[in-house]
Amino acid sequence: MDNSSKKIRSGSFKNFQQAATAGKKLWEDETLGKSGLACLSCHAGYSDLNLEKRQNYPHYVKMVDDVVTLDQMINYCMLNPMQGEQLERNSKEMTAIAAYFRAYRMKYLQEHK
Ligand code: HEC
Repeated sequence: MDNSSKKIRSGSFKNFQQAATAGKKLWEDETLGKSGLACLSCHAGYSDLNLEKRQNYPHYVKMVDDVVTLDQMINYCMLNPMQGEQLERNSKEMTAIAAYFRAYRMKYLQEHK
């Protein structure tokens, strides 16, 4: 692709680690929504992430009562438990949280072989 290709957003991550590091900050941020909770508040120690099911997305999630992609799941938690705004689908924030979730899940899988 040459430089004239259409962009999905301004700015980019140069590698996965950069995105995951940015995502960890958001995951721990209690001001991301209005509930005073961070993603970490509920999901510390891998809780409520259903990682033991070893599923890929999309899949059915009980709380949502629907089949969702990872991005849709993130936005459901942003809107409901976090009482915040949905993350824009092409935003660096969405990519960052999804990247950190993947890194966190990989760590879980390493620890639960
Ligand atoms: C008040 C608690 C709470 C907060 C805060 C919260 N979540 Fe959740 N989240 C849940 C619960 C409960 C579930 C489990 C849903 C189920 O199994 O039905 C869940 C499920 C998930 C899942 C996985 C569901 C699956 O089975 O695949 C992801 C991913 C997720 N949350 C991401 C986030 C992110 C990102 C944030 C922060 C932006 C966040 N959550 C904030 C309570 C919370």
